Amino acid sequence: MSKKPTDSSGISFTALYTGAVWHRNGLSDDALSTEQGRWLYHLMSPFETASKAAIGGNIRTFLLQRHLIIDHLIERAIREDGVEQVLEIACGMSPRGIRLREKHPTLKMVEADLPDMAARKAARLLAAGRLGDRHQVTPVDILAEAGDHTLEAVVARVFDNTKPIVVVTEGLTSYFSLPVITEFWQRLASVLSDRPGSVYLSESYLIPRQPLLRGSLKTLGGLLGSMTRSQVSFHFEDDQQARDHFLGCGFSPVRVYNPSEFYGALPIPQSRRDPMVRVVSARV
Ligand SMILES: C[S@@+](CC[C@H](N)C(=O)[O-])C[C@H]1O[C@@H](n2cnc3c(N)ncnc32)[C@H](O)[C@@H]1O
Repeated sequence: MSKKPTDSSGISFTALYTGAVWHRNGLSDDALSTEQGRWLYHLMSPFETASKAAIGGNIRTFLLQRHLIIDHLIERAIREDGVEQVLEIACGMSPRGIRLREKHPTLKMVEADLPDMAARKAARLLAAGRLGDRHQVTPVDILAEAGDHTLEAVVARVFDNTKPIVVVTEGLTSYFSLPVITEFWQRLASVLSDRPGSVYLSESYLIPRQPLLRGSLKTLGGLLGSMTRSQVSFHFEDDQQARDHFLGCGFSPVRVYNPSEFYGALPIPQSRRDPMVRVVSARV
């Protein structure tokens, strides 16, 4: 069993890199573009180019795959299931809230992150005139077990709790060991089960089958883990294991999407081999 961390703020700077990737790909707003993000983007470029050439995909490939598939599934929940409330936990500099609110002016969008990142995001959205009653930013800590920043307190405080919610975590869960993140998933399933029709969307990375790739990713994960003071982990061997795990956490039904299902239908980059990322849609 891994010891449960109490402070995961070391992860926060990674949001500047993903924010720069969204911006570079025309998915973001200038209000969310940061100097540090642009710098990280340049710093990572040689590594991204080399891994694209060597293995036919790179970090930017799976970031865009996961981001656009999650967007697509939120859109479906809004249009087909009539969901009117979205909570994006670990929002970082994600532009999703801005885009969703532009497209769906009556939607209630709540972005949440650790207090420092939430304050940073709120300041940028406020300066851009984006915040209001239906677009809020609030502090949350998925590790918190008591107080105003717990998942339970945030959901109860900011939403109409008679209606379903779409909850998104993107780029968060792989920074925690499976036992630690499972506790969060179980709590989330319990919170959402009081709001039938709700759905949780997240990405997961499969443990690579190929020994060489498995070894290299373990090394890279270790490096990222030291840089972010976290337990970077690949949680599942395959789609079935991922699905069974979410069912065991209290969600049902659960769908695990392979980005290849969306090639040609969504403007996502294609991986040369089986993509390593999956998008999980877990309902209650
Ligand atoms: C890789 S970034 C992803 C940001 C954004 N979702 C995106 O895809 O661009 C990880 C985010 O997780 C947030 N985070 C780290 N620990 C957290 C926690 N315990 N509770 C909530 N958010 C957390 C960080 O502050 C950071 O914004």
